[in-house]
Amino acid sequence: MSEYIVTRGRTLAGGIVDVEIEDGTIRRLVPAGEGDPSSFPADRRYDADGRLVTPPLIEPHVHLDATGTAGDPTWNESGTLAEGIEVWAAYKEDITVEDVLDRATRTVEWYAANGVTRIRTHADTTEPSLTTVEALLELRERVADVVDLQVVAFPQDGILTDESHEDLLREAVEMGVDAVGAIPHNEHTREDGVESVRTVCDLAERYDRPLDLHIDETDDPGSRFTEVLASEALKRGIGDRTTASHATAMHSYNNAYADKVISLLAESGVGVVTNPPDNSVLQGSYDDYPRRRGHTRIDELHEAGVTVGLGHDSVLDPWYHYGQADPLDAAFVLLHYAHMAGRDDVSTLWEMLTAANAEVFGASEYGLREGNEGSLVVYDSPDGFNALRTRAPRTLVLREGDVVARTEPSSATVHRADGTSAVDFHR
Ligand code: FE2
Repeated sequence: MSEYIVTRGRTLAGGIVDVEIEDGTIRRLVPAGEGDPSSFPADRRYDADGRLVTPPLIEPHVHLDATGTAGDPTWNESGTLAEGIEVWAAYKEDITVEDVLDRATRTVEWYAANGVTRIRTHADTTEPSLTTVEALLELRERVADVVDLQVVAFPQDGILTDESHEDLLREAVEMGVDAVGAIPHNEHTREDGVESVRTVCDLAERYDRPLDLHIDETDDPGSRFTEVLASEALKRGIGDRTTASHATAMHSYNNAYADKVISLLAESGVGVVTNPPDNSVLQGSYDDYPRRRGHTRIDELHEAGVTVGLGHDSVLDPWYHYGQADPLDAAFVLLHYAHMAGRDDVSTLWEMLTAANAEVFGASEYGLREGNEGSLVVYDSPDGFNALRTRAPRTLVLREGDVVARTEPSSATVHRADGTSAVDFHR
C-alpha cells in the first residue's frame, strides 16, 4: 500500500508537522492539524504526539562479515587494530556463507529496529574463497525488504602484500560489489601504499564504482595516504564518489600539514567518515601517558566544508567488542570523544547522522520534504538533544510508506518508602 500518515511529529528544527505519504513518497508536509488522517486507513496512521521525527538513519561504514564474532576464537586483549586483524584472520580460516548470513542478518535487523534503512558494509576480499563477498552479496538481496545494502570490496590484509590479492579484489568487483576499497596504511611500504591507492582508483574508474578506503587508520603521523587519495580524486574528477574512512592519523599530524590535507580534501570533494566506537578503543593503544584520543579532526574538517559522515564500523567483532547497531550510540561516543558537547553541536551531530551520511551513501530524494521518499523515524523523545541523551527508542520506522520496525518503550518504577513511582527519563 505504501501510504501512511504521521501526525504531530516534531522536526529537528522544532516545528510540529503532519506528514502524508502516498505511493511511497511524501506528498504533503504541513503544520500539525492541516493533515487529513481520515483519508488514511486506521492501521496506516500514527500520532507522534509531539515526539521527534527525523529522516531515516544511514550506516555509512560497518563490517557485517565480522559482526557477532567478538571473542571467537579469542578476544582482542591488546585493543590494537593489529590484534583485531590477527583474530579475524584466525576466524575467517573456516568461515562459511551461512555463518556470515546468520550473523549479518541479525545485525541488519538490529539496525532496522534502530531506524536505519541504508547500510554500507565492507566485505573482506583477502579471504581466498571470497566467501564473505558471496555472503554479503546474497545478504543484499535477502534484506532488501528492510534496507538498501551497499557492499564495498575491502582488501583487509592489503593489496600488494600477496600476489593473489589484486586478482581477488578485481574478482569481487566483477561479482557485483557496489564500491571499491583499500587499506594503504596496511601495505608493507609507503610506496606500496601509494600504489594501492592508484590501483583502486583505476579499478573504480574502469568498473564505474565509487571508492571507500580505510585510510590512515593509525596514530602514526607519518601515515600520509589521505593526501594521495584526495590528489588522485582531484586529478580524476571523482571526488564526489570517494570516501576517506577513519583518517585518524590526522589527529597526530602537525597543524601545518593537517591544514594542507584538509584543504586538499575540501578542494577534491572527497568525504570523510569517522567511526568513533572503534577508534575510541583502538587509537592510542601504543601510547604511554598522555594517551592520545587519536580521532580525526571533525571541527577543522567541518570548518573547511568537508562532508563528514558518522559510522559505527564494528558491532560485536574483534575490533570493537560492544555495540547494538545504533547510530545514536556512535554519535554519543563522538560527542564525548571529539569535544562536541556544546549546544550547537547537537544539530551538527544530527546533520552528520542524516544529511552527511546520505551524501556519503549517494542517497537521493532523501530528507523530510515534499516529493522525497516517504521514510522517517519517530523517537520516544521530544527533541534531538534528548534523543541523543537517552538514545531514545525508535517507536516507528517507515520506509517508503511501509512500517519497517516498531518499538514499545520500556517502563521502570522506583520502590520508595511511601510507595512506587513511575520513572520518566525525559526532563
Ligand atoms: Fe572499517
